[in-house]
Amino acid sequence: MEKIVSLSKRRGFVFPGSEIYGGLANSYEYGPAGVELKRNIQDEWWRVFVRERSDMVGLDSSIILHPKTWEASGHVAGLVDAMVECRACHSRTRADHLIENYFETKGEKVSVEGKSEAELDEVIGQNKIKCPTCRKFDWTPVRKFNLLFETHVGIVPEAQSKVYLRGETAQGIFLAFKNILDSTRVRLPFGVGQLGKSFRNEITKGNFIFRTLEFEQAEIEYFFDPEINDWKELYDGWKAAMHGFITATLGVKAENLRWREHGDEERSFYSKRTEDLEYNFPFGFKELWGLAYRTDYDLKQHMKFSGVDLSYTDPATGKKFVPHVIEPAVGINRLMAMVMLDAYTEDGDRVYLKLKPRLAPYKAAIFPLLANKPQLVELARKIHGDLQKHFSVAWDDRGNIGKRYYAQDEIGTPFCITVDFDTIGEGDEKNKGTVTVRDRDTGTQERVAIENLPTFLHGKIYN
Ligand code: GAP
Repeated sequence: MEKIVSLSKRRGFVFPGSEIYGGLANSYEYGPAGVELKRNIQDEWWRVFVRERSDMVGLDSSIILHPKTWEASGHVAGLVDAMVECRACHSRTRADHLIENYFETKGEKVSVEGKSEAELDEVIGQNKIKCPTCRKFDWTPVRKFNLLFETHVGIVPEAQSKVYLRGETAQGIFLAFKNILDSTRVRLPFGVGQLGKSFRNEITKGNFIFRTLEFEQAEIEYFFDPEINDWKELYDGWKAAMHGFITATLGVKAENLRWREHGDEERSFYSKRTEDLEYNFPFGFKELWGLAYRTDYDLKQHMKFSGVDLSYTDPATGKKFVPHVIEPAVGINRLMAMVMLDAYTEDGDRVYLKLKPRLAPYKAAIFPLLANKPQLVELARKIHGDLQKHFSVAWDDRGNIGKRYYAQDEIGTPFCITVDFDTIGEGDEKNKGTVTVRDRDTGTQERVAIENLPTFLHGKIYN
């Protein structure tokens, strides 16, 4: 993980948040390479799950929703973590993480999911678990705190103006359900996909971008009639789609993935089945993507709190009912951490990110062999400008070619294109008008005619 964290900073993927002010825990900034990679993952998710499916539509709802939304959804009462504070150094930590990490260092796997504050206090006390920061044993009693960020709208008195930054994108989908039915020709079963920022007041140190205060969620609510569709079949279909996305689209190794089903104490009371697709992060197998069969709970809750009828009428039979939903919910930032970790490759002295070319921040990097030879630079600039119309491409004219390869390898650029003396007709005459294209993974080089570069790259990247 340390290697990825330092590579991320060195090469402009991810920077610590608010660094010039000493940092802000669990917040990060996505640099020039990182924003491209994150956007490519988002685009792939949108392409695979929204644009290329005829049973899906998209949505972009608000970050600030009516505050009743979060009472109806159960987040005001239920999106809570149990926390303890060290009286000696005042660091705060999630009680469940404190306990689970303590047992993990002893080689034991313990889950305290569903335990009360008193029970957690007891486990911490009985095992005399010390503060991981200052090594003292002087904890406050465990208390619950809500993860929703509160803010205020307008100038009305405080209590009436209180709103929340959304803790998940999913609720926006339920609020828009009626408008989607009324404005489109969708018929059950169909899903609504949404991509956007969610916010949670996470206090535990987040393992890089795995757990952050704000994160990009990609969620789907898949609505269906449980009397017509077998939920288990739909559920298994989503499991296969999620797994396929991670392995085939994002290129992650299947051996680093596993499914974990939630037990009764962990699963929400309205859910019939919940499973997490987990990835083998350096800190253990952890949740990447959740899949939950949520029945008709959410739509019914919003009907109750809003007084608006959110039922669906089957156009063929006239049957009126509240649809059920299956919800695949993932964080793009977690996907990005996984993609970088999985692509990180050391080969002797060489370090490279073996990213799927379509995910790479830059599809190609263009180099003039020498920065002080105007003919080489001008032609390389022209090629760079022409390729920019098709792909995201990088430019580098500093140092020797070896150093430039080294930098692009760490960024994961699949192709490096060099304009050399042959290109401009001052070398081997038969190579005039061609450039050297070097492959990131094999290190092999081939000569490609300048006019063929867009087709050549397109074929290699989007095959
Ligand atoms: N609507 C269901 C829901 O939000 P969740 O398991 O709380 O379920 C879904 O979140 C996904 O969002 C997680 O599997 C994870 O990928 C991502 N996620 C949740 N909290 C996160 C955080 N603090 N930082 C980064 N990603 C997070």
